[in-house]
Amino acid sequence: MDYEAILKEIQEEIKPYLEQGKVADYIPALGRVNPNQFAMSLQLFDGTTFGVGDVDTKFSIQSISKVFTFTLALDLYEKTLHERVGIEPSGNPFNSLVQLEYEKGIPRNPFINAGAIVVTDMLVSGYHDKTFERIVDFIRNVSDNRALSHDKEVADSEAAYGYRNMSLINMMKSFGNIQNDIADVMAVYFQQCSISMSAHELSRAMLFLANHGVDPITQKRYISASQAKKLSSLMLTCGHYDASGDFAFKVGLPGKSGVGGGIVAIVPNLMSLCVWSPRLNARGNSLAGTKALELFTTKTELSIF
Ligand code: DON
Repeated sequence: MDYEAILKEIQEEIKPYLEQGKVADYIPALGRVNPNQFAMSLQLFDGTTFGVGDVDTKFSIQSISKVFTFTLALDLYEKTLHERVGIEPSGNPFNSLVQLEYEKGIPRNPFINAGAIVVTDMLVSGYHDKTFERIVDFIRNVSDNRALSHDKEVADSEAAYGYRNMSLINMMKSFGNIQNDIADVMAVYFQQCSISMSAHELSRAMLFLANHGVDPITQKRYISASQAKKLSSLMLTCGHYDASGDFAFKVGLPGKSGVGGGIVAIVPNLMSLCVWSPRLNARGNSLAGTKALELFTTKTELSIF
């Protein structure tokens, strides 16, 4: 298949969408990005990479970090994870408090904020003050890139305005579902969200998942095939919050979005993808990015269905 030509076509066709939607500004440092940028990167198992647009521009990975932290937690706590966080779609916004109260502090899934905060708490129980280093190290390993780091300005900005996330963790603590000090857990959570990566770096980082847990280039196994199945299934059902059904319907691939405007997706057994465009739709997912992935699976017929 001529991926280069297909990506170029998509780049043309999404132009009208680039000016729609709104950059996330509830984290002030995120609001300063140039809003009309677009990148799409695709990586095959032999290391061949295709890309259009701003594929080497770094952006804040935000909730895409939840895929990496959940991978680590799945490995450390596979047998007990279900006691702390569910596996069902939430049908609610990513930062919703209401459902969490009804459900006694057990978040619906690890990809909404509350669930990701519990996952970070579990990692802090395992790795203590080395937790953030361990997370970054894991992302460096799966992306085969030692140069990755986080953006302190974004982390500080989110911490300064993190009222809702602080409410979520306090409510979970009141139900006994947070074991560590709230400030320690949130410091790691805000830092993991502020990791900066480009579209090329993120598509590279997802290859292990497209190949059932083994990096097809280095041959290193990170998780079992069964764990990779679980992770990919959760991305399909919960990766886009209350728009997960919409994303599955239009794109037909496991994917995970972040409010920085990035979306990662995998075509099992074949490739990993990352799109980035900072303007978001009403549910907090990249508007042009979602459209680009929809065009990709429609043109190539490479959805999982
Ligand atoms: O916790 C927050 O609000 C952000 N650091 C991450 C949220 C996010 O990326 C939701 N994604 N669409």
